[in-house]
Amino acid sequence: MAEARFQPRVFSGIQPSGNLTLGNYLGALRRFAEMQVSHETLYCIVDLHAITVWQDPAKLRNATRELAAAYIASGIDPEKSILFAQSAVPGHAQLAWVFNCVARIGWMYRMSQFKDKAGKNAENSSLGLLAYPALMAADILLYHATHVPVGEDQKQHIELTRDIAMKFNHDYGTDFFPITEPVIEGVATRVMSLRDGTKKMSKSDPSDMSRINLTDDADAIAAKIRKARTDAEPLPETYAGLAGRPEARNLVSIYAALAGETPDQVVAAFAGRAFSDFKPALADLAVAHLSPISARMGELMADPAEIDRLLAAGAERANAIATPIVARTYEIVGLAGR
Ligand code: TYM
Repeated sequence: MAEARFQPRVFSGIQPSGNLTLGNYLGALRRFAEMQVSHETLYCIVDLHAITVWQDPAKLRNATRELAAAYIASGIDPEKSILFAQSAVPGHAQLAWVFNCVARIGWMYRMSQFKDKAGKNAENSSLGLLAYPALMAADILLYHATHVPVGEDQKQHIELTRDIAMKFNHDYGTDFFPITEPVIEGVATRVMSLRDGTKKMSKSDPSDMSRINLTDDADAIAAKIRKARTDAEPLPETYAGLAGRPEARNLVSIYAALAGETPDQVVAAFAGRAFSDFKPALADLAVAHLSPISARMGELMADPAEIDRLLAAGAERANAIATPIVARTYEIVGLAGR
């Protein structure tokens, strides 16, 4: 548990690797906006993480601004939350190096995201891809963050962050770093692909039909939901009755998350009806939620200089918290620099 001496502080991050999805929105962005009301919050555009796989430099710069626009359009207030790019605060890379020396290589090989991304040719992936979770631990612990809202797929990385904090504290005989709690809550912590209900909806899926992008227009959203894979059975009376029907469960969960209802309430409202009835209602709901976000993103993207200004102001605030934490870490470790 994060000790009482650490004031509650929320940190989370998203990679600027293009194509933000409904999964990112429901599993992360929307919840970030909710948490900003009750907590001190830092939200980061993790561009150093993005380059663990090849990124075209011009596209990366644009994706960073687009992600900043998505954060703001989803309700993050850059006055209230600290919104910034990871590479603008040197402490992330500084602390990551220390954690590279604390974490064990074996821990990294066990990460399922590494296994998925590296595939069969792990020896040929970047060293950064393997060390990715140590940088993620640095992101969080650089601010002594106590709570990290994420989707289900990041749980293993947060557990590793806890392991790194514990090993650092143990090795150096200190209690300097908090043991952070993941916050994985709600009905949409794992939004699945529209083409395959056993696979996560992902910005890197080769099929654009598998996901709803935050920038999709109303027609694209409606078409993707209409073509989403389902089965021929009608909706049952209860959500539990959807066992063994992953695609159907996924669409019901998405509906529930967007409508602010429980999955059981959604199933009860459509009980006995076919998916051909359900899908248009889901499409209307998705369009009603996402259209204002993509419209706002478009407006914000029309003024890139203003986005850069907001990010620079956020980086300054983040740096003010991070700098003394790096200095104290270096002192604990016996490093000469401050
Ligand atoms: P990333 O960029 O892949 O995803 C950003 C956030 O979106 C969530 N998410 C989903 N939630 C529900 N259903 C989905 N299909 C779905 N797809 C993505 C992710 O769980 C995540 O919360 N390693 C992180 C970024 C990161 C980070 C951090 C997060 C770097 N440092 C420190 C928290 C704290 C990542 O690649 O997320």
